[in-house]
Parts: sequence; C-alpha cells; structure tokens
Amino acid sequence: MSENTNTQSPDIDWNKIGFGYIRTDYNVRCYHKNGKWGEIEVSSDENISMNIAATCLHYGQESFEGLKAYRGKDGKVRLFRPDENAKRMQSTSNGILMPEMPTDLFIKMTEMVVKLNARFIPPYGNGATLYIRPLMIGVGPTVGVKPSSEFCFMIFVTPVGPYFKGGFSTGDYMITRSYDRSAPLGTGIYKVGGNYAASLKANKIAHDNGFMSEFYLDAKEKKYIDECGAANFFGIKNNTYITPKSSSILPSITNKSLMQLAEYMGLKTERRPIPEEELLTFEEAGACGTAAVISPIRKIVDLENNKEYVISKDGQPGPISRKLYEKYTAIQFGECEDPFGWTRVVEGI
Ligand SMILES: Cc1ncc(COP(=O)(O)O)c(C=O)c1O
Repeated sequence: MSENTNTQSPDIDWNKIGFGYIRTDYNVRCYHKNGKWGEIEVSSDENISMNIAATCLHYGQESFEGLKAYRGKDGKVRLFRPDENAKRMQSTSNGILMPEMPTDLFIKMTEMVVKLNARFIPPYGNGATLYIRPLMIGVGPTVGVKPSSEFCFMIFVTPVGPYFKGGFSTGDYMITRSYDRSAPLGTGIYKVGGNYAASLKANKIAHDNGFMSEFYLDAKEKKYIDECGAANFFGIKNNTYITPKSSSILPSITNKSLMQLAEYMGLKTERRPIPEEELLTFEEAGACGTAAVISPIRKIVDLENNKEYVISKDGQPGPISRKLYEKYTAIQFGECEDPFGWTRVVEGI
C-alpha cells in the first residue's frame, strides 16, 4: 500500500476544527525486534493490539513527538524541521532505553503517512494544519521493571485548526508551586508520557481558574523559570531574546528556531537561568511550541504569594513577538523564502 485511491475531500468544516482527534485513512507502523527495525506497515486500523504485560502499559516505556504538515500558499505541502523531531526522539530513546529510530526512516515514514492522508491536509488560508504524531512504545511482555525487548514505532495524523481562532492574542498563566512536571535529573528533557501525566492536575487547576496553562518554576529551589505548561518560555528586553537554561525542560524545536530567527532579525539571544523576579523586567514574553508557535503572555500570576507579573500593559502582543510570529509562520506556509532551509516539501501531493 503506497497510495490512497480515495482522493475525495473529507466532510470536514476546516473553519470549525479545533485541536482534537479526527480519524484519517491510514497510519504507519514499524516494529523493532531482535535488534533491528522491520518493514514499514500501513494500517487503516486505528486500534493497536499488544500484550497485557507490555512495558509501555506498566512502566511508561513510551515516547512521542509532535510536528505538522503545512499546505502552502503555492499549494505545496511542507514539513518543518522533521530531522529535529527525529533527533529529539533519538535522545528520548537513549533516556528510557528504547532503540533509536534512524532519522531517514523517521522522515520516510512521516512523508508516507502525510501522502496517504493527503485529503486530510487542510487548505491554505486559515492556519489549519495536519498534525503528525509519531510514537514509540515498548510492547514486549515484562513483569519485573526492565526495558522491553520489542518496540513498535507508529505515526498517525489528524487535521487541527489554528491555535488562534480570533487572531494572535495574549493569555494569562498561573505559577504552580504545588506540582512539578519533572525533576532536575528526571525525564523533563525527554518527550515521555509520564511528564504529561505529572502535569495533568496542575493543568486542570490552571484551566479551572481561567488561565491558559500552569507555569512551572524549577523543582529544586522554586526560584527559576522552567516551562509554561507544555511550551517553553521566552522573554524579551533590551532587544534581547532570553530563554531559560534548565535540566528539566523539553528542548523545544520552536524555541531553538525562534532564537535563530531572532538573531537573523538583529536581536541578541541568551539562554540562562531566569529568576522569577526577572519577570517584572520583560517588555514582552511568550510561550512557544509547535501548537501555537508563540502564545504571547499578558500576565503571570503567583496566587500563593499574592503577586502578579504584568508583562503586556495594554493586553496586546508586543511588536517583536508579532514580527517573529509572522516571519516564522510565513516560512512554514511558504509565503516567503526560507533562509534557513528549515522546510521540506513533501513531493507527489
Ligand atoms: C513540555 C513541552 N515543552 C515544550 C514544547 C514545545 O516543543 P516544540 O517547539 O518542539 O513543539 C512541548 C511540545 O512539544 C512540550 O510538550
């Protein structure tokens, strides 16, 4: 199976979709057994069958990634830095004793699943995209705590709506001291499900109180900024883009790319520990990640200490954040040239 003969447009209102799961036609899978990766399999089944004692179910031996395919202004479909997702997944594999998925196989399977589901790639225009979710799970049966001997790597895709339905805008965040998503020497630098399980309660509390998400300080001292929920943090002041250096945050591909773009646009960049009080000094700040690119921050509230760090006085995104966001998304949607060679056109769609 290398082609989908169904090219009919699906019955989806592209202007109404959010960030949920919509069934598509195919997913791709590849098993690692006896020390090597097997043949790529194409499946139209959205369920997986595995042993009841699989390590992913008991010991969280699981990793995932998230990237998108963008239908461009010129009709071409682009991936954004898929090699970076492959590299991060390799790092996660090394962190939790799973086999590395080679970059070329990762990209081959990504392009394959995008092509097989081409009819689900939203049209150019309103910011909707095809979200791509690679994941790897330990499937070998084990009862004692030890790594699996067999693994399954899969990729499914689902169309998602634009993050900003009403246009680029700011949101509020809530500092949490009662929960940590990861420890200084834990798995925060890897993309494993356990970190997200650890964040669910704090995330719910933040949402129930009307915040965009919870805001983490470093787990050890609660002195430095770590992450904004499932996104990295950056602040801007004195023409400098500043982002935390920490051993417990996920190395965001968006953040790494925004730093490069900021330098290209003439800003200085710094990656260093950021004490909580420094929040008061930022002219602009944002949460960054694949989902939103930049989600500008209006204020960060420290309920436990009865403090508020208001970053945007007028409630609007700052000019530098807007410029970075516009250039970044223009590259993704093929609206301008890509000076960094970040995008990769999926041929044959
Ligand atoms: C915990 C966490 N931090 C940051 C990010 C942003 O990373 P990226 O820019 O690679 O999407 C994500 C999303 O993947 C995340 O889950």
